[in-house]
Amino acid sequence: MNKQPLLASCRNISKSYQKGQILITPLEKLNLDIFQGEFLALMGPSGSGKTTLLNLLAGIDSPTHGELLFKGEDMAHYNRRKLTRFRAKNVGYIFQLYHLVPVLTAYENVELPLLIQNMSSSERHRRVTKALELCHIDDRSDHYPRQLSGGQEQRVAIARALVTDPPLIVADEPTGDLDSESAHKILELLAYLCSELQKTVVMVTHDPKAAQVAHRTLHLDKGVLVENQDNAGRYDKESSCG
Ligand SMILES: Nc1ncnc2c1ncn2[C@@H]1O[C@H](COP(=O)(O)OP(=O)(O)OP(=O)(O)O)[C@@H](O)[C@H]1O
Ligand SMILES: [Mg+2]
Repeated sequence: MNKQPLLASCRNISKSYQKGQILITPLEKLNLDIFQGEFLALMGPSGSGKTTLLNLLAGIDSPTHGELLFKGEDMAHYNRRKLTRFRAKNVGYIFQLYHLVPVLTAYENVELPLLIQNMSSSERHRRVTKALELCHIDDRSDHYPRQLSGGQEQRVAIARALVTDPPLIVADEPTGDLDSESAHKILELLAYLCSELQKTVVMVTHDPKAAQVAHRTLHLDKGVLVENQDNAGRYDKESSCG
């Protein structure tokens, strides 16, 4: 048995999209347990449903069928308002192309998720400064995204994902647009979030080397999820994936 508490569970999850006459079902009866503090890599061919699964875990979308438990509560039928609240509290999202707001500085980009929270400006300042420091990008806080390298932009994006202190960080190909040295720094940072801050990280990647930093690697293909036996890391595989 895994000694870490469960963070999220997919129970017989299916997701379909109706496009005109065609029904697309990238995820079908998928089962997955995700434990607190683990680093999970998700691989698979293009179109296999990796982003779809990430979006379900992040509360950006809802499953068509099945149970999606987060800390034991089924969020499969949450309405938009509940999903928005869930995301603000629990999830930091990191994208391949950073998605920073170009007219805001690095500092202001990181501050953005806090503006919808009821928080004093001094507390906001404390949190933004801490997140920028953690991501080693505090020396660029007054730079605009266009004045940053790709790796620096991604570190700002990670600071933005972290600033609300969510238990879950999801990252969709976070190193896909970076050179190998910048990618390495980003992967180190994500691993640090798990080991030192007890964050749970679910990362989609096409790069087997990037996946090696994770505790577990899952392969998604034709709706089936298979665990890589090579890098099971410190997590007990039993009953964690099906
Ligand atoms: N909003 C949507 N409406 C209709 N079909 C969708 C939608 N989102 C995804 N799909 C379809 O679902 C399937 C899975 O898409 P998804 O984006 O999850 O793949 P992926 O594994 O992330 O691929 P990639 O590696 O290229 O990013 C694809 O066939 C895609 O066309
Ligand atoms: Mg994708």
